[in-house]
This record gives sequence, C-alpha cells and structure tokens, in this order.
Amino acid sequence: MTQLTANSESSDTAFNHTTSSLNSFAPRLLDWFAENGRHDLPWQQHQTDTPNPYIVWLSEVMLQQTQVTTVLPYFARFMDTFPTVQDLAAADWDLVAEHWAGLGYYARARNLHKGAKQLVAVIDEAGNFPQTLEGWEAISGVGPSTAGAIMAMGLHRYGVICDGNVKRVLTRWAAIDSDITKSATTKELWALAERLTPNECSGLFAQAMMDMGATLCTRSKPACLLCPLKDDCLAHAEGRETDYPVKAKKQPKPSKFSDALLIESTDGEILWLQRPDNGIWGGLWSLPLQFVEKVDGKMNGKTATKKSENNEDKPSGDVRSNEKVYEAEFTTAEQIINEWLTENDLAAASTSRTLLDDDPIKHSLTHFHWYLTSRKLTVDTAQITELNSKLAAAETAFKWLTQQKARDSLGLPRAMEKIIER
Ligand code: ADE
Repeated sequence: MTQLTANSESSDTAFNHTTSSLNSFAPRLLDWFAENGRHDLPWQQHQTDTPNPYIVWLSEVMLQQTQVTTVLPYFARFMDTFPTVQDLAAADWDLVAEHWAGLGYYARARNLHKGAKQLVAVIDEAGNFPQTLEGWEAISGVGPSTAGAIMAMGLHRYGVICDGNVKRVLTRWAAIDSDITKSATTKELWALAERLTPNECSGLFAQAMMDMGATLCTRSKPACLLCPLKDDCLAHAEGRETDYPVKAKKQPKPSKFSDALLIESTDGEILWLQRPDNGIWGGLWSLPLQFVEKVDGKMNGKTATKKSENNEDKPSGDVRSNEKVYEAEFTTAEQIINEWLTENDLAAASTSRTLLDDDPIKHSLTHFHWYLTSRKLTVDTAQITELNSKLAAAETAFKWLTQQKARDSLGLPRAMEKIIER
C-alpha cells in the first residue's frame, strides 16, 4: 500500500475514527484511484512534472456546480480559443460570454474574465501565477476549496479541498450528522479534510477525492461494495449512507413570470439588449423582458405579489387585463421600450401580436423558477429609427440581429435559445 506521512496525529481525539483509520484513509484512496480512477480528463495534471495552473483554474471554475460530461466540450472550446490566461484576459467579454453560453451560473463567467485580468496583473508584476493559497483566494470566483485544488493540482504544492463531493464522502465516512450548511459543520469538515490530506501528493489526493465523490460515493446510489473506505465507513456500518450529508431543507424557490419581447423588423432582425452587469444574466444578451404577475391565481409569482402588496409597482397598462407588468424589474433599456410601446399605442396594438406559444418555458435559476413566454411585435423602419435614438441616448447596449446572427455572435443564455427556437 502507498506509504505516506500523516498530517498531524496530535489531536485525533477530535475525530470519530482511530489514528490508524485516519492514517490509512489516504493510502487506501490513492490505491483505489491508481487502479480505478479517471486519468484522462483533459485538465488533469497529475501525470506531468510541469503542471499548468491556468488549466486547473479554468476547469475548476467550470466544474463548480457542473458535471464533468457537461464541462468537457466547453473546456475544449475555451482552450482552443483562449489557450493562455493572457488570451482570456485580452478577449472581449462578448466572446467569453458566447463560449460560456449554456453552461449556466453566469456569474462564474464574469468572475472568470475578471479573474483572468487579475492573474495577468499578478504575472506582469511577480513573473508568475500566484504561489500561495491567499494569492489564489484573492482572485475573483476562487473560494477556499478551488484555491486548495489549484495549489495542489495546478502547482503541485500542498493544498486541501473540501467541496460538495468531499463533504458527502466525509460526512458518510465519519457519520457527521450536523447540518452542512452551518459554519460549525464546515469547520469540522475542513479540519477532517486537512487531517486526511497527505503532505506529499496532495494534488493526487484531491483528484482521487473528487473521483470518489463523483463515481462511487454518489448522492443517491453509492457503490459501497467497490469502495476502499467501506470497512470503517460509519454511515455504511449503519446502512444509512444516503442519510448523509444532512442539509437543512431549502425554502421552496419562488416563481417569476416574464414575457420576452421579440421586437422584429420587417426584414427579420430582432432587438437584443445587453443585460446590466449586476442581476440576472449580467453582461449577456437577451430579448427585452417584462416581468409580470399573473393575477388570475393560476400562477402567482412571489416577488410580484410582494411588490403589489407594498404598492411599489403600478401596472403599466398592459393589454392583458389579468396581468400586471412590474416596472421595478425593468432595466433602463426595458423601461425605455415599455414607455415607447405605451406612448405609441403599440402595447395596445400588440393585442394582435402573435402569441407564439402560451405554454411558458420553465427555466430554473439559483434563487427562483422562471417562466418565460415569448411575444412578437413587428415594427417598421420609422419606428425602429425612433426606438434606436431613444436607446442610444440612454447609452444602453443594443443590437438588431437575425436569430441566426444572434446565435452565432452573442452569448445567449440557454433560455433565450429556447425562446427563439420556438
Ligand atoms: N469536480 C471538480 N473538480 C474536478 C476535477 N478536477 N475532476 C473531476 N471532477 C471535478
């Protein structure tokens, strides 16, 4: 079995296992990984003596909240277009967004682009990527576990990871039944992860832990018979693997409802707006949106309801009598468009607009479920000129592009793709 030095034996009484169990954890895991782990993922650096921290940083950010199989083609495209951190830092945001489109959690893409610029600044000043945990934690979008992964796997220095997969493995192995969303539990899990991470080859250990969590110790059907840790896994001994990790029940997500306006010229160009950096889809391109409250009781958005109770928003005179449009949700450009539609009686004219499909697209984001309905409105050249001058005067970013061109050249969120596919 792999021989390793234990991290520290001085305070083993704090853990639910014996020193011998704690010390044999890493060798057992590493032997399993050598035989059964994945060794051909394109970002892995454990088989080289010259690891590339850019590759590890990029892949780790992509792999936050996203599975390996989803990330693989995105990672390949990123590496093709942005082979170095300098290429990524120098790229236009639109190109980065376009490469990210569909991967979700878009704040990660914005952090990635910002982080690339920060990394280039560090490299220009110090001649190299950050070499310390603190140095990596100072980069946008890099938390303690990602920083530990980069230290261990991207620099072959000492680093500890404790992400969601690791937490699942450890809460099961040590039968830690406190709520993992609590900071005391987080501390306990980090202490255990540090205790188990060997001083040598912490990168290999990190990779092995990730593989264990992703392939054996899975959320709903762990393959305990194949697990190198089953003999002293306390959850397994109780037959209660899937009771761990314990996580406070989340509040059900609220729902929001929007119309996406397909404002189209007679030659098929559609109006696209770039969303402000803060908020939903920050920096990405979207059709103009109108958040609506359905007041017929069929679908009642929590946010919209709260706003109506507070009387913060007024219905905008939208033609559909059973809906109110919530102006507080508008971006500047959407506000302009809504006013322009109302002034020109186009909101009313849009009774005749084509309701493409009454069945909304459901799109789930971190904090709410979003139901999107598309509505189409055709405008003539004079109307386009007038609208353009209003949007330009407010310095909002907008473009008129056909569906195909928008798809090819803008970073469209997946929900927008779905809307224009209809
Ligand atoms: N999840 C997060 N990081 C990973 C990695 N490097 N390999 C596989 N799965 C991961």
